[in-house]
Amino acid sequence: MCGIVGYVGKRDATPLLLDGLKRLEYRGYDSGGIAVHTPDGIQIRKCMGRLTELEKDLTANALIGRPGIGHTRWATHGEPSQRNSHPHQAGAGEVIVVHNGIIENYQELKEQLRSAGHEFLSDTDTEVIPHLIQQELADGAASPDAAIRQALKKARGAYALGILFKDDPDKVYAARLGSPLIVGLGEDETFIASDVPAIVNQIQNVIYLNDGEIAILSPEGVAIQNLAGESIEPEIKPVDIAPEAAEMAGFETFMMKEIHEQPRVLRSLLEKHVDREDTVIVPEIGFSTDYFQQLRRIMIVSCGTAYHAAMYGKFLLEHLTGLAVETDLGSEFRYRSPRIESDTLFVAVSQSGETADTLASLRLAREKDCKVLSICNVPGSSLVRESDSVLFTEAGPEIGVASTKAYTAQLMAFGLLAIHIGRARGEISEETEQQLMKALRAVPNAIHYMLERADDIQAIADKHHDGPSALYLGRRFNYPTALEGALKNKEISYQHAEGYAAGEMKHGPIALINEYLPVICICTQTEDEVYEKMISNMKEVEARHGRIIAVATDGDKVVADFAEDIIYVPPIHEEFSPIVNVVALQLLAYYAAQARGTDIDKPRNLAKSVTVE
Ligand code: F6R
Repeated sequence: MCGIVGYVGKRDATPLLLDGLKRLEYRGYDSGGIAVHTPDGIQIRKCMGRLTELEKDLTANALIGRPGIGHTRWATHGEPSQRNSHPHQAGAGEVIVVHNGIIENYQELKEQLRSAGHEFLSDTDTEVIPHLIQQELADGAASPDAAIRQALKKARGAYALGILFKDDPDKVYAARLGSPLIVGLGEDETFIASDVPAIVNQIQNVIYLNDGEIAILSPEGVAIQNLAGESIEPEIKPVDIAPEAAEMAGFETFMMKEIHEQPRVLRSLLEKHVDREDTVIVPEIGFSTDYFQQLRRIMIVSCGTAYHAAMYGKFLLEHLTGLAVETDLGSEFRYRSPRIESDTLFVAVSQSGETADTLASLRLAREKDCKVLSICNVPGSSLVRESDSVLFTEAGPEIGVASTKAYTAQLMAFGLLAIHIGRARGEISEETEQQLMKALRAVPNAIHYMLERADDIQAIADKHHDGPSALYLGRRFNYPTALEGALKNKEISYQHAEGYAAGEMKHGPIALINEYLPVICICTQTEDEVYEKMISNMKEVEARHGRIIAVATDGDKVVADFAEDIIYVPPIHEEFSPIVNVVALQLLAYYAAQARGTDIDKPRNLAKSVTVE
């Protein structure tokens, strides 16, 4: 949801801002813009569309100077247009702002400012910010930071801001409340950015700004203060992401790179959390055996793909811990009157750690005195900071907008968590733990084999990609896999797709089945009690001439009788089969998208990090 970047140092700002924005483009890509202090004063350039448009403009007509700020937009208030693109300014460029977030009371503020003579040029909520600051300066604020503080006290909502002042040409100001923002420290230069990967190739250390903090970047360094103007000693942390982690590494897209990273990511997650005796070790969770024994309930909340991981987590936790486990979508949970108390463990799942609805739900759980455990991929994110403990998925930066490696890492994290809690509660024996761990250890190699079968999956995608719709069916642990497969498909190929619990098919969706509809059926567990049920569901599809694409286990002799195409996966323990099966569906969606010619890393209308409700 919009990316921002800023630079203070001796180098030319424009190429650094553009480079940072390109790395942030996954956060929004309907327009981009930069503002730079030049010898002729501050200049702004904005372009509709992808950053390549801005780049072309800047190549044709260079903008040389420093410091500067930049923005890549995902429209919330006001259509994508030149007029609504950031940076926004007040007066004759006295205050210039880039913003990520939403100013909820912008209408009210706009009216007040209009009656004080301010004119607005855009439909955005953002534009009130430079005007508010300008008004504070006009009313006698002692300094730019004093004006920012006064202005921000009037704004309600969420913001990460980068700010330039015409009359303070050496500095970039920044502020954060509810939207991510970091300060990056290089050699004699400083940056702001929405995330670390945006500037990872330029910096050695990072300051994760807290809500309500303002940063002042100057040639002398960085000063941090709170909204009361008190100075704050920042915690400086070394950057622990390798610069290559944010590069495409020879793959055609970030999504393909991230799909291929899955065996490595999962292997290292296991290495970190399993000891030589095949016992799960998760010291970072920090809750005692006693706590887990007293626990009565787990509530898991998340959005999108992470919600599918939560559904899988529910099935697995119920299966291995004997606890009552419930899941909900962040956007629903926060408006319910959930019956959760201090005997409930609240689990938030999020790749970014910045999803607004997940965060709001976490805060609600806190009010109810629940302990909060997050399964998260981004250190320093809001979710991480507001949780009692965190199980990091450690998948590295995920840049493709459609989540892949973060999802399988979330599933693996649930595997570890369920085994750990199951043991702590005495629901599973040491022997069962070892069997489960053996099965979990087989997952990375099984995914590796899946990736080697990518050509077969591509051939199937090429055959079926052009229909208007597709149905995905699964049961039990693989019901969430069906939902996730359908989500991947619609997200990147724009083919309408529905995921369904296979047993529900005859309660409605069966009406859709005809000789044109591809029905992707996940039926990998020949030993599993739901396998036969799945076969019956597939027969029902066959009887109505649906085109069955089966995801089946190597050596399965049954499905070949009625499936038009089969994606074979290596045999894997039923509990952990979703971690492997979903990779087949990621590839199926990927190749369908490729055949349909979409922009796979940046699908239309989407943004990676949904920091607004
Ligand atoms: C889909 C996808 C989204 C996210 C959702 C939650 O591929 O990536 O559905 O899963 O927006 O995001 P996080 O996990 O960052 O909370």
